[in-house]
Amino acid sequence: MTRKPLIAGNWKMNKTIGEAISYVKELREFVEDIHNREIVVCPPFTALSAVGAEIKTSNIALGAQDVYWEKKGSFTSAVSAEMLKEIGVKYVIIGHSERRQFFDETNETVNKKVKAALENGLTPIVCIGESEEEREDEETENVIEEQLKNGLMDLTKEQFLRLVIAYEPVWAIGTGKNATPEEAEEAHIFIRKLIAEMFDEETASSIRILYGGSVKPDIIKELMAKENIDGALVGGASLDARQFSDIIKF
Ligand code: PGA
Repeated sequence: MTRKPLIAGNWKMNKTIGEAISYVKELREFVEDIHNREIVVCPPFTALSAVGAEIKTSNIALGAQDVYWEKKGSFTSAVSAEMLKEIGVKYVIIGHSERRQFFDETNETVNKKVKAALENGLTPIVCIGESEEEREDEETENVIEEQLKNGLMDLTKEQFLRLVIAYEPVWAIGTGKNATPEEAEEAHIFIRKLIAEMFDEETASSIRILYGGSVKPDIIKELMAKENIDGALVGGASLDARQFSDIIKF
């Protein structure tokens, strides 16, 4: 089963529209010849439309950082999957640890968001991963299993096959301390084993699993050399177009 590498940049709460446009103009040029991987940028909501217009005819796809599950109504500040789709969004990050930590995201809300995204043809990038304390307590596998099984419950195999999973150990996010390729590979193998239990081997080997947490140009090659690592979700290092393009080209 060949899984096309996917490199996604999560800008978090960074870049005004002006900054976002100059960035994607640069990035477009740096990566225009790259066709053997999928490239995604996830700007903040305010810059989505403008970035979408700028990359429309490029090999860069547009991703959002969150979505709300309701279709419409009195949900002040929320943005629906249909609204994202309308402006050209193709991917949406769901369940990022910062959403879990600062905005009360739970496996239950992740599940609702994933379903809403899939119903609207968006590809969810679902983030899972243990905290430092959970790793020290040897709870890593339990946490991953709970997040995966509860966050992604009640999906059909066809729906599941359209997802991307990002393994992001919380202790590696924004800390400069990435998981070693071996640690990441071990977690990815475990995730595939769980998917095989939930569905079957074919589904497990078809799903793309990204690694995220302090990914930098100097570590990406080693990560991507691992059989079960299919790409990266990049935060800090995706904010600079040159650095991000170095990661994309690994
Ligand atoms: P980082 O963030 O690359 O800055 O560690 C990754 C993420 O939060 O997705």
